[in-house]
Amino acid sequence: MADVITHDDVLKALRGVFDPELGADIVELGMVQDVDITPTGGVTLGIALTIAECPMRSQIEDDTVRKVSALSGVTNVHIDIRAMTQEQRSGVMERARRTARDNAEPTRVDPKTRVIAVGSGKGGVGKSSVSVNLAVAISDLGYRVGLLDADIWGFSIPRMLGTTERLEANDEKVIIPVDVHGIAVVSTGLIVESEETALMWRGLMLSKALEQFLHQVAWGELDYLIIDLPPGTGDIQMALSRLLPQAEMVVVTTPQKAAQKVAIRVADMARRSYMPVVGVIENMAGFACGHGETYDLFGSGGGRELAEAIGVPLIGQIPLDAGVVDGGDSGKPIARSVPDGAAGAALRATAQRVIDLVPPVEDETCTARIARLVDALEIKSA
Ligand SMILES: Nc1ncnc2c1ncn2[C@@H]1O[C@H](COP(=O)(O)OP(=O)(O)OP(=O)(O)O)[C@@H](O)[C@H]1O
Ligand SMILES: [Mg+2]
Repeated sequence: MADVITHDDVLKALRGVFDPELGADIVELGMVQDVDITPTGGVTLGIALTIAECPMRSQIEDDTVRKVSALSGVTNVHIDIRAMTQEQRSGVMERARRTARDNAEPTRVDPKTRVIAVGSGKGGVGKSSVSVNLAVAISDLGYRVGLLDADIWGFSIPRMLGTTERLEANDEKVIIPVDVHGIAVVSTGLIVESEETALMWRGLMLSKALEQFLHQVAWGELDYLIIDLPPGTGDIQMALSRLLPQAEMVVVTTPQKAAQKVAIRVADMARRSYMPVVGVIENMAGFACGHGETYDLFGSGGGRELAEAIGVPLIGQIPLDAGVVDGGDSGKPIARSVPDGAAGAALRATAQRVIDLVPPVEDETCTARIARLVDALEIKSA
């Protein structure tokens, strides 16, 4: 007689199926919604993915079939794939974040530092300009700020901040960030151009370079670490979420609808890699010509649509302004050099919005601290 398979057997087998991006098994993540077993050994599983187009879908399906088919007595396996609701997705993300936090190797980034990664789906939308200006504006509000240029080969932060200083290591071989107007800056562009170091960096994988920046830089006590991401949804983004699970992301987009599609991909990536999206910044929004008229050179509405589509606030609209380009080329970020101009003021308001949404740890109210303590205790006792 064939073995009788139980729910427990099937769940045990499914514990061996991992969602590689979320770093936990599909049972733990709550992705297994139904298990149905017929007397003849047919197994039907209801599996909910974070999004229907999950790139891991076929791997999860294949692994599931393989693991469950291997149980003695199973004659066939049928999988009913569905997409999670928004609420279920948030729950899964929260669980994945906790798992990641518990498993992450400690970096030299103070756990009390708020990490804001500035991302986008395509190049040239103004991530680096926004990163530099947010760093400067947040620093001008009195916070301790670090700026990490995670665009390892396409670095632009040194030029935008007008620094030609070089990173140096202390006696313990820990890299000391360059201090530019009170901001702790690290970029591959600030590495000494000796043959030896150039070779060392060329040999490193991108994600390894990022790892070095997080493990071997004495970041010190910062309130905020702003990370300028390279364009796209590649290695660096995934590595960042693995190395710094406390990282949160702001997505920069242009008002154009096409750019918005790409940005949705980034937001999806952020969710899959448990990086919460704080909000959307629309850059290169209307051009104020100085005669009282505003022209939407790059279209309009893309930022708001994206924000609505992914359910986060639109936290800033930065107008198209030649001063942003000049500031970037001359190393004098506009948020500080022309703070009351249209773009400067918008960037400063956006920085304030970021702080309101992600308050520095010290500034959290007692209630927030108590809530977090209770949360931590609940996780421990769970
Ligand atoms: N609001 C703005 N008004 C005018 N020009 C801008 C604005 N924002 C950015 N720029 C200009 O657009 C160009 C691209 O900006 P930036 O380098 O910041 O984009 P990026 O997204 O970091 O690009 P990459 O994907 O290559 O890293 C730069 O020349 C910059 O000066
Ligand atoms: Mg850039």
